[in-house]
Amino acid sequence: MSEETVAVPLGGPTVRPRRLRTTPALRRMVAETSLEPRQLVLPVFVREGLSEPQPISSMPGVVQHTRSSLLGAVSEAAELGLGGVMLFGIPEHKDATGSGAIDPAGILNLAITDVVAEVGDALTVMSDLCIDEFTDHGHCGVLTPDGRVDNDRTLAVYAEMALAQAAAGVDMVGPSGMMDGQVAVIRAALDVAEHTDVSILAYSAKYASAFYGPFREAVDSSLQGDRRTYQQDSPNARESVREALLDIEEGADIVMVKPALAYLDVVRRVRDAVDVPVAAYNISGEYSMLEAAAAQGWIDREVAILETLTSIRRAGADIVLTYWASEVARLLG
Ligand code: PBG
Repeated sequence: MSEETVAVPLGGPTVRPRRLRTTPALRRMVAETSLEPRQLVLPVFVREGLSEPQPISSMPGVVQHTRSSLLGAVSEAAELGLGGVMLFGIPEHKDATGSGAIDPAGILNLAITDVVAEVGDALTVMSDLCIDEFTDHGHCGVLTPDGRVDNDRTLAVYAEMALAQAAAGVDMVGPSGMMDGQVAVIRAALDVAEHTDVSILAYSAKYASAFYGPFREAVDSSLQGDRRTYQQDSPNARESVREALLDIEEGADIVMVKPALAYLDVVRRVRDAVDVPVAAYNISGEYSMLEAAAAQGWIDREVAILETLTSIRRAGADIVLTYWASEVARLLG
């Protein structure tokens, strides 16, 4: 092609989007999306009976905490100005009904009290409200005699778990089991017990995902099979809007989409459909994939982390749960 055929007017184009990309200051000024520590929530694992923090091999940089090492992590999170922490407990003994979840002396309930005593009101203290870490079969609910997850009997367990967590002092509970009606039952139980200020972060749109793989190691899960009869099916997006709206009707204060990266369209749809804050969970497999590629030297780790979290914010998440929360807060600071 000769020079003369190029259709650029003499002197070049007058409309030049690149002008606003000229300097870092200019790019910062026109950025449409922000990433701030207050928008980030750090998920943390605490395991009963540990004497030393235990690395999680499939999540390099993440550990199962002892009760005391947990306090270091959460006080750092508070100093960094994170929005909150999400606590997961791993009991020494698991059973069919997940009884460790409702025991006031169960690891998660003890950890809630420890963490609240450590950080006070400086952080929103949240706890996973689901029994899969506590059941010997690894499912999020109790089972029928023929081995199916029993929705309605599970609701009664969740109500008790909510009361135990509220009694331990939690600010916000995170029902993650995808039982129908779970938010309504938990809200009612909390209200009757006068825990009206305990709020609910509902895992409203939670998909059955291969990307939870490393989390199963993180919580020593004993799950055989999958959660496809209660978690959502990846082809469906409309259904997530329905789930979110139902949860809001049932009393959810915040709704969440999970996983984040393979479901950014769902984050956007839910954000556009509701008027409560929307959270998204940047889950274990998303963390591990990036860490693995970075460890090979295939991507620039810090830039990739910031780009990933920004994409989740840009899709519409007000709040992002991420294992990088403290590190990113430090980078941003
Ligand atoms: C269930 C729960 C899961 C995660 C958070 N809560 C696992 C699952 O549903 O199988 C996954 C979080 C992650 O992968 O980072 N209590």
